[in-house]
Amino acid sequence: MGLILGIETSCDETAAAVVEDGRRILSSIVSSQVAVHAPFGGVVPELASRHHIENVCPVIEAALAEAKVGLADLEAVAVTQGPGLVGSLLVGVQVAKALALVHRQPLVPVHHVAGHVQAAFLAHGEIPLPALALVVSGGHTSLYAVPEEGVHHLLGRTRDDAAGEAFDKVAKLLGLGYPGGPAIDRLSEDADDRAVAFTIARIKDGTADFSFSGIKTAVLLHVRREGIAPVDDPAEVPPRIRDLVASFQRAVVAALVRGLERGAKTHRPRSLIVTGGVAANSRLRRESAAAAERLGLPLFVPPLSLTTDNAAMIAAAGFLHLETGRLAGLDLNADPNLRL
Ligand code: KG4
Ligand code: ZN
Repeated sequence: MGLILGIETSCDETAAAVVEDGRRILSSIVSSQVAVHAPFGGVVPELASRHHIENVCPVIEAALAEAKVGLADLEAVAVTQGPGLVGSLLVGVQVAKALALVHRQPLVPVHHVAGHVQAAFLAHGEIPLPALALVVSGGHTSLYAVPEEGVHHLLGRTRDDAAGEAFDKVAKLLGLGYPGGPAIDRLSEDADDRAVAFTIARIKDGTADFSFSGIKTAVLLHVRREGIAPVDDPAEVPPRIRDLVASFQRAVVAALVRGLERGAKTHRPRSLIVTGGVAANSRLRRESAAAAERLGLPLFVPPLSLTTDNAAMIAAAGFLHLETGRLAGLDLNADPNLRL
């Protein structure tokens, strides 16, 4: 029985999970710090580290209790090594090292983005390979060829902001609260998504790269030109702001889906994966499904609980590393810029 404890503390969620054989989730606990960072309109790294320190042990205990297993039953401890906020990553890495040392268990370092891709395999089991995976979150917007489970070839990435970052910055500009993605998603329902014509720069150098800083600036210029003030109460958003964010969301999703579709035409995968926090976006889910249908390919999007940051995806990715012997020693260090 391959029971793996996963630990994830790369950003503002403290998470722990127990996963069996890389496929069956016995528990997945996520302690969100949204309330801590919301007053600042974004993650404050120093506060994030402190809250991870407070939360990490109770979260691990809760994950073990819910899975009804003890530390001695584990086959390995998997932890997010990077990328992310260094102070946050360090908390998870130190705790994982301590557990692995005390219980003499293998320590398995995991790349956060590999975890996001693995969430699709964890949720759906067998996925026809090669797959094309779009990872779209607050820190990443990347397209990967996945020839086999656990192997990722980067095809394109954002040159500037991640898509989720653009959602969060636009929401902050308009006073819509943090995190911005879910707020914009909700406010865009029934709004006029053609009210403002936004275009997204196409990168014309033959790469599959993305860029989202231009649209963020376009929203800022529109707000200044029209004299739009941020809302006082995120519960009462006037129609013109709802139309504005719906138009923004439409353009961002169109750019993401265009990247996915072009990637599929070039690389001819047998399936598509869309994952990461922004994969929770209802419009992105809908439009990727339509694109998959046009392409005649199956699409795999994890359920909401596995698209945003969680530790089950880290345990699942750790299981693959354990099988292939990609382990770490007790000199493992957090790497905020870890490459996949
Ligand atoms: O994967 P994740 O939890 O953390 C990172 O690895 O970054 O992604 C968080 C990002 C945030 O930028 C948040 O605004 C965005 O995912 N997000 C969404 C939605 N839910 C979360 N963006 C658009 N629509 C949503 N429904
Ligand atoms: Zn993430």
